[in-house]
Amino acid sequence: QKLEMELDSIEKGGYEHFMLKEIFEQPRSILDSMRGRLELEAGHLNMGGIRAYERKFANAERILIVACGTSWHAGLVAEYLIEDLARVPVEVEYASEFRYRNPIITERDIVIAISQSGETADTLAAIDLAKSKGATIFGICNVVGSSIARATDAGAYTHAGPEIGVASTKAFTAQVTVLTLLAMIVGHQRGTLSDTKLRELMMELSNIPSKVEKALLLDAEIKQIAEIFKDSTNFLYLGRGYNFPVALEGALKLKEISYIHAEGYPAAEMKHGPIALIDENMPVVVIATKDSSYEKVVSNIQEVKARKGRIIAVVTEGDDVIPGMAEFVIEVPATSEALMPLVSVVPLQLLSYHIAVLRGCNVDQPRNLAKSVTVE
Ligand code: AGP
Repeated sequence: QKLEMELDSIEKGGYEHFMLKEIFEQPRSILDSMRGRLELEAGHLNMGGIRAYERKFANAERILIVACGTSWHAGLVAEYLIEDLARVPVEVEYASEFRYRNPIITERDIVIAISQSGETADTLAAIDLAKSKGATIFGICNVVGSSIARATDAGAYTHAGPEIGVASTKAFTAQVTVLTLLAMIVGHQRGTLSDTKLRELMMELSNIPSKVEKALLLDAEIKQIAEIFKDSTNFLYLGRGYNFPVALEGALKLKEISYIHAEGYPAAEMKHGPIALIDENMPVVVIATKDSSYEKVVSNIQEVKARKGRIIAVVTEGDDVIPGMAEFVIEVPATSEALMPLVSVVPLQLLSYHIAVLRGCNVDQPRNLAKSVTVE
């Protein structure tokens, strides 16, 4: 019994749960996912899997992304990245819904399938359908040699290492890292991303692991916030632009492991419905980092405040406006707008973790969920 407990603790690297260990591994797993791909000194990006398909990507009329759950959220971030940096139209599809609506797919399409496990049945089925229509399939998987990795024409592995916690954390940031590199490569090829802008982004991307490290220092502070909200029955997560998929991901993490009902929304959609939910019992997590939609998010915060919602804001370090409005403020380091999801998701992972632990939930193996969903 004692030996078993010791082995368990060694496996968890001294952390109480795999999920926490994996959250804390992110500076390393992000670095591993860009290792050998981001050559800062040479000013060069290098991704083996894409090389033979660089022309195809550069000439693509459209990119389709298929995935489920957290991987689908990484796909949404990729939509912003690819459209922003490479100017190729992107559509992000729930793999589980894709084949039930007679989608239009042609040989000129590139389909990117994203999956941590590489075994998700819905994602595999979406790949099969796209393949039968002649599309080129590019996989982004974490598990080497998995079914999805084998079913795709080409791909790039994320190097997050094994992810044991059912709630995906480090796999998400690794996926976003690889998708960022991909968008940069395609953008540079297509001439929509200048040499200077590419250099700038490369430099900023190389700083992300240390910024994530810094965000992890917020752990104790976030635990205190978790104490205050652990008995809430609902949560709203709001974000705009690149932070909208982060809001969805924050809400999913909380639902999965704490069984608290949570919804993610684009901040501006709030007034079209969810605003009716807001009262003094509703915690609203707003991701309000300094970016092109900052001013608009500030007015969304005012709208929530006017209805007595309890605001927990994730802001950029040094923000001197939102601290005067929000009940709780979580400060993350500044970075380029396109790279912010890699940093802003970290406090949300920690918040859901601490709330779930405080509620006595089994965070590594939440009820009703499996690590990979191999049934349709
Ligand atoms: C994430 O926290 C979930 N457990 C789940 O949504 C997961 O991301 C989804 O099932 C897809 O899994 P995959 O990445 O292994 O394909």
